[in-house]
Amino acid sequence: MTGEIAISPLRADEVAEAWRICNLAFGTFLNLPDPSKTFGDRDLMGPRFRSGCAEVIAARDAGRLVGSNVATRWGSFAFFGPLTVLPEYWDKGVAKRLLDGTMRVFDSWGVRHSGLFTFAASAKHVGLYQKFGYWPQYLTAILRKTPERGTEPTLLSDLDPRSHERALDQARELTRGISPGLDLTAEIRSAPDVVLVQDGFAICHTGPGSEGGSGVCYVKFAAARSAEAFERLLSACESFAASRGAAVEAGVNLAREDAYRRMRARGYLTITQGVAMQRPHGPGFNRSDCYVIDDWR
Ligand SMILES: CC(C)(COP(=O)(O)OP(=O)(O)OC[C@H]1O[C@@H](n2cnc3c(N)ncnc32)[C@H](O)[C@@H]1OP(=O)(O)O)[C@@H](O)C(=O)NCCC(=O)NCCS
Repeated sequence: MTGEIAISPLRADEVAEAWRICNLAFGTFLNLPDPSKTFGDRDLMGPRFRSGCAEVIAARDAGRLVGSNVATRWGSFAFFGPLTVLPEYWDKGVAKRLLDGTMRVFDSWGVRHSGLFTFAASAKHVGLYQKFGYWPQYLTAILRKTPERGTEPTLLSDLDPRSHERALDQARELTRGISPGLDLTAEIRSAPDVVLVQDGFAICHTGPGSEGGSGVCYVKFAAARSAEAFERLLSACESFAASRGAAVEAGVNLAREDAYRRMRARGYLTITQGVAMQRPHGPGFNRSDCYVIDDWR
């Protein structure tokens, strides 16, 4: 390290390098044989940088990018990640500087609560986030299922402009009923695909260069008003994924007990799991009555 680590927003010309560092950092931590290819052709940096609902915080050493963190806002709730530091800079306080910057962004947004998803078995990760007021809670399982083709679902992009705005109003009303101020409008507007059912919607990313990547339909966020609507929504997501030749990948916090049990009953298998940490320590929308899919990665 040459000097003081400087924290400021990531520039557009640094997005590719930030994503390279992300691959390298996770691949190194996970001991993968080729850390440069950790995420394959999925991209959690470019789409988020351009989404309009995220701010990417960068750490630089004498002008050189050495780490970044993505802060995403969903109305009154925010989460951060992926947080990564170039391996040669680990254990020098860079992540703490990035988190100082992230907390300033959250404060400027005025969010009521915020969260993250991390490696439950890592004392370093859990200890680092506790320093910033986050508390470990339930596990979040990332589930996968390779679905059969079904009836073509309705997509937000199929609607005429008036119905489109009405669908956005309905989504806002639904999420506000789940948690006061929870608002996915900006995330929906930037999403490649949004699957709609009566009393539910799901934001899906699939294809190379997207947040899902090839062969994966990543459900970044989904919400349904009831158990019945949740079943309808899962069927629609599965049909959509099958139509794109993809498996569904969806995270669900285990505090959302019925949602998790229903997904397991439909044949979803856990491919990995981590722990959700929240600030302040409280359930937020990780509750047994919530039919919500998300993972805060
Ligand atoms: C996780 C990661 C971002 C941390 O970055 P870093 O710059 O090494 O972290 P820092 O040096 O700023 O802070 C580490 C803190 O964890 C604390 N820590 C380390 N081991 C600990 C332990 N066993 N128990 C409790 N706290 C511990 C350290 O004490 C340090 O805080 P301190 O300096 O106040 O003592 C980095 O290792 C990385 O990029 N890993 C791969 C990708 C990843 O896992 N990202 C996060 C996914 S949620």
